[in-house]
Amino acid sequence: MNAVTDILRSMDYGVAPEANDHVLAWLEKHGRRFDHFVGGEFVAPGDGAYFGVVDPARGSSLAQCAQGSAADVDAAVRAARKAQPGWAALTGDARARYLYATARLLQKRERFFAVLETMDNGKPIRESRDIDVPLAVRHFYHHAGWAELAESEFPGHEPVGVCGEIIPWNFPLLMLAWKVAPALAAGNTVVLKPAEYTPLSAIAFAELCREAGLPPGVLNIVTGDGATGAALVEHPDVDKIAFTGSTEVGRIIRKATAGTGKKLSLELGGKSPFIVFDDADLDSAVEGVVDAIWFNQGQVCCAGSRLLVQESVAERFHAKLRARMENLRLGDPLDKSTDIGAIVADVQLERIRSLVEQGKAEGSVCWQASCAVPEGGGYFFPPTLFTSIAPASILASEEIFGPVLVSMTFRTQDEAIALANNSRYGLAASVWSENINVTLDAAARVKAGVVWVNATNLFDAAAGFGGYKESGFGREGGREGFYEYLVPGRDRKAATPTEPRKVDFSAAPSEPAGAAAPGSPRMDRTAKLYIGGKQARTDSGYSYTVHDAAGAPVGHAGLGNRKDIRNAVEAAQAAGSWSNTTAHNRAQVLYYLAENLEARAAEFADRIARLTGAGENAAAEEVAQSVRRISFYAAHADKYDGQVHSTRSRHVTLAMNEPWGVMGVCCPDEAPLLALVSLVAPAIALGNRVVVTASPAYPLVATDFYQVLDTSDVPGGVVNLITGERDALAKTLAEHDDVAALWYFGSAAGSTAVEAASIGNLKATWANGGRAVNWSDPAQGQGREFLRRATQVKNIWVPYGE
Ligand code: NAI
Repeated sequence: MNAVTDILRSMDYGVAPEANDHVLAWLEKHGRRFDHFVGGEFVAPGDGAYFGVVDPARGSSLAQCAQGSAADVDAAVRAARKAQPGWAALTGDARARYLYATARLLQKRERFFAVLETMDNGKPIRESRDIDVPLAVRHFYHHAGWAELAESEFPGHEPVGVCGEIIPWNFPLLMLAWKVAPALAAGNTVVLKPAEYTPLSAIAFAELCREAGLPPGVLNIVTGDGATGAALVEHPDVDKIAFTGSTEVGRIIRKATAGTGKKLSLELGGKSPFIVFDDADLDSAVEGVVDAIWFNQGQVCCAGSRLLVQESVAERFHAKLRARMENLRLGDPLDKSTDIGAIVADVQLERIRSLVEQGKAEGSVCWQASCAVPEGGGYFFPPTLFTSIAPASILASEEIFGPVLVSMTFRTQDEAIALANNSRYGLAASVWSENINVTLDAAARVKAGVVWVNATNLFDAAAGFGGYKESGFGREGGREGFYEYLVPGRDRKAATPTEPRKVDFSAAPSEPAGAAAPGSPRMDRTAKLYIGGKQARTDSGYSYTVHDAAGAPVGHAGLGNRKDIRNAVEAAQAAGSWSNTTAHNRAQVLYYLAENLEARAAEFADRIARLTGAGENAAAEEVAQSVRRISFYAAHADKYDGQVHSTRSRHVTLAMNEPWGVMGVCCPDEAPLLALVSLVAPAIALGNRVVVTASPAYPLVATDFYQVLDTSDVPGGVVNLITGERDALAKTLAEHDDVAALWYFGSAAGSTAVEAASIGNLKATWANGGRAVNWSDPAQGQGREFLRRATQVKNIWVPYGE
């Protein structure tokens, strides 16, 4: 023990270890061996296999956990399925009581869970004690509230069913809470697979659920590695997959679930910018950086791992940062004064080392704090700062997931935004300036699901969290997150499969299959594509014959190809000002569109009747409904508001509904005009620009419609129309990385193909799985679901007060 005089001389911290005897006793009580939790019981793995769990601060064994096989997963899914109807049939109030009891018990055991989490994961006790566990508790309390309110606040919605939930190792208990609490609150049952490095807090949580009296089978936990996760994803009786983890595995899951009808939310990686303007409070910003990248050893999906600092203050800022880094304490995570604990596993440490070496080899300048790296078998990595980074460097683009910060400089605000958005990810951003105009402008322009103003890494159950671009889709937390665990009631009803009308796309001359109907348009008319506000010939030069209901040829439509789609996407991208124009202006344009369609109602009705064989009245009604539908979304353009979430005191948390940008829309054959406007109107009302593929059977309805667009002040590039083979065009849209979201209404096979092909930029897809929509029924063909799917929620956290 140092004498007080020695301590005063050196000002060294003494050791301040957190006792772990309760956790050790718990481990021993179980013989350091843990089984799956299925149907309310702990059950041994069918094939008797276990894997080792390691204390990353020491490299020593902590316990053995069951390695889940496909059979184990199946048993858990069956238990969840059996329990689901009863759980969903409870009143919201009854479910709320269970969640509330769980929150209470977790709160009573906070210290136990914090110590266990730190031993299993290597994170400093200060963080597990003050952040992970309290936030997990908060999540259960918050969602007890949603259970109570689900029926009244989400009318017409039902639970999805059985949820398969796969979580990572960086926040084991917190990620469990993020996934389990909303699922149960909404009336779903769950099979959870914790990460193989950190399964222990989930097991302890299972015991806590028993204590809370949660009915058997409502929550099931199967431990194991990626193979166990894959078995859960592939299980045919799972209705939804919620995943947090790497983008690579997110892609595998997107592909594996394509066409299965499973609902999917993905919370994936990030390379989040931390932007420091020259008028920022630099000392506060330095503390912000510490929280951004050295919290949880940088193993945080939304870590502010890319520092962008204005050139004029860069040198000063880096100097302050280096000085602060020298004060960070790396060491035993159970020590209460440790800032940086252990990396979760040896493989993760190797990955960090390898990326750091690659960065050095690329010529980036590496600086590391001189703190001693603990010896004794643990996995530690010192806080590291890279400067002189080229934007193309691997360090600037790759998620390192370790305590490694890379810094770049910028001169102007525009350059800062361009650098910030120069990433395939879009999870979070942090913006630092004392000028509110600068911060809010940056918050609006940065492409990320969460933006913190003069702050970082703030979380709350009431605010949605989730990413743009390759950071995934779906939100966790808040009202927006709760939708991920619900489906509109109509999805449950047996829907009639659509059999798209057979269309002959052959471009070779052919004998007319039937006699030309009296009054048909002349055969020499070929409707062109509509790109960038202009009629355009197809790239291929090919067209196909369009027939009326009696099989008589009535005209030709262009056979669009990949190049046409690319041109249309380019035109849509160039029409970006539509997303920034006021909602009022967009509403005016849509009202004008409705008015101009109405003026040509008879002509459209005639066209629909002749092409589809619908009776005169039905065709007239389709046009009338189309006019009303456009007006409906015109009305919504300036009313589909965001929210201000109630999170922390002295913060406003703005949940903004932002347009995706460029969307793909593939129209069905049924109700060719009404379906077209039902899909296009909500998308453009909320500021998207769309590339639309027309019904292949009735393309002339769409090509007539662009004449209405032309006369209605819809700016060029906002709506682009391509005719041709739906599934070929849809595949190109799905693969195009500049298309942010894709709605597909066609065949079951086409839906599968679209979902499987959308993995490049992990675009959000909405595919009908081949089921027909009754577009004339407002409960199915219009409403908030369309508006919700036309937007993504960005949460902007703005603190106030000194
Ligand atoms: P990972 O994505 O492999 O693991 C996350 C979870 O997915 C674990 O429970 C794992 O068992 C499961 N899993 C793995 N393969 C699966 C499959 N084919 N199907 C279903 N589930 C599967 O992440 P990993 O390998 O642990 O970490 C690698 C990198 O991923 C990290 O360095 C980091 O960059 C990133 N990562 C990002 C996270 C985030 O929160 N965004 C969390 C964890 C990792």
